Amino acid sequence: MMSYDLVVIGTGPGGYVCAIRAAQLGMKVAVVEKLPTFGGTCLNVGCIPSKALLFASERFEEVAHHFPKMGIKIGKAEVDLPTMLKFKDQAVDGNTKGVAFLFKKNKIDAYQGTGRVLSAGKVEVKSGEGKTQVLETKNIVIATGSDVARLKGVEIDEKRIVSSTGALTLPKVPGKLLIVGAGIIGLELGSVWRRLGAQVTVVEFLDRILPGMDGEVARQFQRLLEKQGMTFKLGTKVSGVDTSGKMLKVSVEPAAGGPVEAIEADVVLVAIGRVPYTEGLGLKEAGVALDERGRVDIDAHFATNVKGIYAIGDVVRGAMLAHKAEDEGIAVAEIIAGHAGHVNYDAIPGVVYTSPEVASVGKTEEELKAAGIAYNVGKFPFTANGRAKSNQQTDGFVKFLADAKTDRVLGAHIVGVEAGEMIHECTVLIEFGGSSEDLARTCHAHPTRSEAVKEAAMNVAKRAIHM
Ligand code: FAD
Ligand code: NAI
Repeated sequence: MMSYDLVVIGTGPGGYVCAIRAAQLGMKVAVVEKLPTFGGTCLNVGCIPSKALLFASERFEEVAHHFPKMGIKIGKAEVDLPTMLKFKDQAVDGNTKGVAFLFKKNKIDAYQGTGRVLSAGKVEVKSGEGKTQVLETKNIVIATGSDVARLKGVEIDEKRIVSSTGALTLPKVPGKLLIVGAGIIGLELGSVWRRLGAQVTVVEFLDRILPGMDGEVARQFQRLLEKQGMTFKLGTKVSGVDTSGKMLKVSVEPAAGGPVEAIEADVVLVAIGRVPYTEGLGLKEAGVALDERGRVDIDAHFATNVKGIYAIGDVVRGAMLAHKAEDEGIAVAEIIAGHAGHVNYDAIPGVVYTSPEVASVGKTEEELKAAGIAYNVGKFPFTANGRAKSNQQTDGFVKFLADAKTDRVLGAHIVGVEAGEMIHECTVLIEFGGSSEDLARTCHAHPTRSEAVKEAAMNVAKRAIHM
């Protein structure tokens, strides 16, 4: 029987990063993965392929609609979808192979098969051919991630009714795409297919898009997406999909109840969230407790109720984000090695990779109000930023929320081109407990979009220069 210091089940961003950090710290490590490739949801059917398609479709839109305005004539731009999908597949291949290389480099044993926890200290691996072997280990980290949430009565066939996985491989651009859920997946993949020519309608149960993001940010972002041609039906739910005809007939009705309306669509994308994945893991038999939402229950040190068994990433509480899973992977490896690993959940950025991007870190105005914390707001629009004006990319704004008494920055929110890169100086500021004045007094290169971040910080004290 092979014997290890640590066996990690699942090789998504949580699991593979955890394994590498543990190996760096001198542990003998194995990973167990049921898919043929490493990298989990993120690398295979999530972050990486969606970003490749967002990148390619954005370039197409630029060439088709923005190049002529800049005085660049190159004839009519056309979409070659098979090649674009190949470009996306190459991105996945390069990244998953990269993880395999890192496992070898760090002398991590990789087992292909489904992992099951037999007890503390024992993991069974069952290969595709049904062969089983048992690994002995001092510690187990569960990093089995999440799966698509299903909509009752609507069966996903990954052809006409798709989850995000099917929406990454549609063989042709749908004429009409109906998306259930105005969350991150709906808006990112909706943007991809709208740019490529689909007519996109988004049906959202709540009366706003992007729940959890700052309300003002979400409202402005919705207006920008509508300007781009997306249609929203808020406060509305899908009650069924009739698949009998050539076109799908989607029944939608007000969330609070009311008359049912039928909308035709070529493809329906169900993007109503994700659920923790614990199927076949044997947690019940091993006595590992789940919380009320089916997630593996952990304490502040990622430990479950069974000694020597830990869990991280999408399968536990908190944001379902790759970088949150990665940071937890590093922290738990350090804790197991006797170090002081930790994750600051107040400083985890979130980015929607649309055009423009939406990025945020820390608290929203709604959260501060609910917590009764007095705060000051500093805002600055990209219409007043020199670089944004010169590039004619002026949509959006930067917003800081700072404690009214101490000026400590509690939240930062950006809508705009490159928001996903600019958010990181705000994240560092929050991580270091910085004030808006700290950032306002930090020199920023001119002309950059980041100057809008500095000006928003200055405007917490109502002293922006360029507005
Ligand atoms: P996962 O990545 O889900 O990995 C879990 C792994 O465990 C899988 O490989 C699975 O096969 C394996 N596994 C499960 N059970 C077993 C078992 N019993 N035995 C062996 N192996 C098992 N997040 C971002 O931060 N940025 C983005 O841009 C982004 N884009 C996304 C786009 C889409 C379309 C989707 C669906 C998600 C996106 N996410 C993004 C979310 C991100 O993918 C997840 O938060 C992240 O992958 C979670 O990592 P994880 O390691 O916890 O789990
Ligand atoms: P989500 O939780 O972001 O959004 C789901 C949306 O569907 C919500 O607005 C919700 O109100 C709505 N909804 C739920 N049930 C509904 C119903 N019956 N009818 C209509 N609307 C309904 O989930 P999403 O977009 O599926 O993404 C899943 C996870 O993947 C998220 O947690 C996200 O963090 C992660 N992700 C992250 C990305 C990024 O960081 N850029 C990109 C894509 C996904």
